[in-house]
Amino acid sequence: MRSTRLKVGGFALAIAVILSLTSPPSSHSQKRENVEARINALLARMTLAEKLGQLQQLDGEANGNFRPEHVEMVKKGLLGSTLNVRGAQRTNQLQRIAVTESRLKIPLIFGFDVIHGYRTIFPIPLGEAASWDPAAVERAASIAAAEARAAGVHWTFAPMVDIARDPRWGRIAEGSGEDPYLGSLMARARVRGFQGSDFSAKDKVVACAKHWVAYGAAEAGRDYNTTDVSERSLREVYFPPFKAAVDAGVGTFMSAFNDLNGVPSSANPFTLTDVLRGEWKFDGFVVSDYTSVEELIKHGVAADGAEAAREALSAGVDMEMVSRLYNKHASELIKERKLSQQTIDEAVRRILRIKFRLGLFDRPYVDEALERTAIFNSASVAAAREIAARSMVLLKNDHDVLPLDKNVRSIALIGPLADSRQDMLGSWTGDGKAEDAVTLLQGLKSKVPQTRINYAKGCDIGCDKPDGFEEALRAARESDVTVIAVGESAEMSGEAASRSSLDLPGRQLELVKAVQATGKPTIVVLMNGRPLTINWLAENTPAILETWFAGTQAGNAIADVLFGDVNPGGKLPATFPRSVGQIPLYYNHKNTGRPPDANNKYTSKYLDVAWTPLFPFGYGLSYTQFKITNLQLSAERIPLNGKLTVSVDVENTGKRVGDEVVQLYIRDTSASVTRPVKELKGFQRITLQPGEKKRVEFLLTAEQLGFWDRQMRFTVEPGEFQVMVGSSSEDVIEKSFEVGSNPY
Ligand code: BGC
Repeated sequence: MRSTRLKVGGFALAIAVILSLTSPPSSHSQKRENVEARINALLARMTLAEKLGQLQQLDGEANGNFRPEHVEMVKKGLLGSTLNVRGAQRTNQLQRIAVTESRLKIPLIFGFDVIHGYRTIFPIPLGEAASWDPAAVERAASIAAAEARAAGVHWTFAPMVDIARDPRWGRIAEGSGEDPYLGSLMARARVRGFQGSDFSAKDKVVACAKHWVAYGAAEAGRDYNTTDVSERSLREVYFPPFKAAVDAGVGTFMSAFNDLNGVPSSANPFTLTDVLRGEWKFDGFVVSDYTSVEELIKHGVAADGAEAAREALSAGVDMEMVSRLYNKHASELIKERKLSQQTIDEAVRRILRIKFRLGLFDRPYVDEALERTAIFNSASVAAAREIAARSMVLLKNDHDVLPLDKNVRSIALIGPLADSRQDMLGSWTGDGKAEDAVTLLQGLKSKVPQTRINYAKGCDIGCDKPDGFEEALRAARESDVTVIAVGESAEMSGEAASRSSLDLPGRQLELVKAVQATGKPTIVVLMNGRPLTINWLAENTPAILETWFAGTQAGNAIADVLFGDVNPGGKLPATFPRSVGQIPLYYNHKNTGRPPDANNKYTSKYLDVAWTPLFPFGYGLSYTQFKITNLQLSAERIPLNGKLTVSVDVENTGKRVGDEVVQLYIRDTSASVTRPVKELKGFQRITLQPGEKKRVEFLLTAEQLGFWDRQMRFTVEPGEFQVMVGSSSEDVIEKSFEVGSNPY
């Protein structure tokens, strides 16, 4: 164990204090002061009922008529927000009631799940993360924001930044996978894309980091299940993407459904107040998840609605989504001195703050004419195609079967997902329409109009009967090459969509085997919302392209990749296991005292399956080849608060232009607490021409070497660190350096 430590937080704080003392107040801070003054003036005029109204969010109508009860509540100033109401005209209509008929004219905030697109749908977030391209992800979020705001939506319940180490959990599809660093960069990119530098702009929305917190650690991967996570794992694994969202200025948080170490996330003062407001200085508001306040009763921490309201409010949940316990019980709780007026005022203040920052008091309506041009325009559709292609991961490509030759005379296109528009959109489709989606069948037809496409579905996604197999085999026999699109339906991932098996559903694998037995080269196109156990495919089929659910432009983007107009460069953001029995299986695990050793039975492994993954985190091939060599560190020893430059040569040794994601991992080999065998600390996606060689540099700072020590202080300890750079978490070259025991 080492004795000298550097508390990084204190160092940064000192610099921040010096800066704040020397710089004059900016117009930004004046603007913020004005907002606070306007909130105070408003709060002073509000009745308790009006205050509680601001804390209420109800599920409104997306179509049809508004519920008369909601309209009445808006008129009386008893409703602060709705979810699902959207469309410029509809939102304006309800907003008009709020700002012209209610006593204090406080505008409504309209929330909606704009997860990976509003009308133009991008790949599911797990797919976007597979691009390892934060700029592309920011662009997708920014297009989603522009469309949503034009449709009157102010607030998206995204990004979902939950780390997921268990692919049985269906919501792994909605996040960025298993890694806190990749997850943090994706969180920041999405917040920036949604909010820009000022979310009052007419093409921006306020974002919501969810689900706070550790919802992805649901036991056994079963959605909504209990979580039991140490403070160390919270701080090192589950918190970082949320912190990144706060640092990027996210305006709101959503409290999660899960019980966290005995205190449900929607009533957890440690996470909601101590960490979020205390340590991180978050000044936006927290909304509960859908009825998660009421669910405190079923969790067994509240005997009744009044207790549930008191617990959630006093822990720091400001707005209640759908259940109505704050409204029902807050005044009696105040009378009984079980809740303070100040707690209510603080919650109202935070909500009004975001409404002011959204510019709603000054510009409550949206321009109805803009909606027609801002939504699903050709620029957005082109971006969706490009980003979808960037998210695809080439898992296998024996003998360069891919890319396909555009002169191919015939292709058999087989499989339940080859022509299913709705499935292309994945889970959470926003206002996306199946009829906008391009399937692989359509994509192939427009990519190679001269080629005969022999399409045969083979079976449905559930694939319980082989009735259609014969037709599929005939198509394969009559064609030069076979492309087979298999995987999950869109509803098999996302919320309440956990699976105990990660195999291809039904008899889909049998279909692939039968098709491959025809002897025609078989290219597997996977569509799915999570890692799958595809051992047979990995061993036996020549080519596998992971396409996730690629969105509105799925079919065109897949065709771009299959024919080599785009060279795939995505990498896996989550480990693919060989068997469900290995789960949780993630690259940044601890070493144990008995790391696996094939020659020693008494080491950490299984009797019936390898301990290694089928495809590791960070893995993905290209149509060209890269060589990563000549790893150099700028120093062999750095001080405790020092910096280090890490550089490598990356060369495209193949014949096509292509992208490599160069990944940097570290390992602290001996510390006061055990450290992961590898931790991602940097990556760059670069494009190289054939034969081109480039030096890629990373800067490693002391903060990136730090961790939470035994006293839960963030610390950098002296000693040896390994640096690994490579093309996946397993394919790396390495060197080591020392961190000295003194600062500069
Ligand atoms: C989900 C949230 C979502 C909310 C509103 C809940 O069931 O857990 O992620 O934002 O519904 O639709």
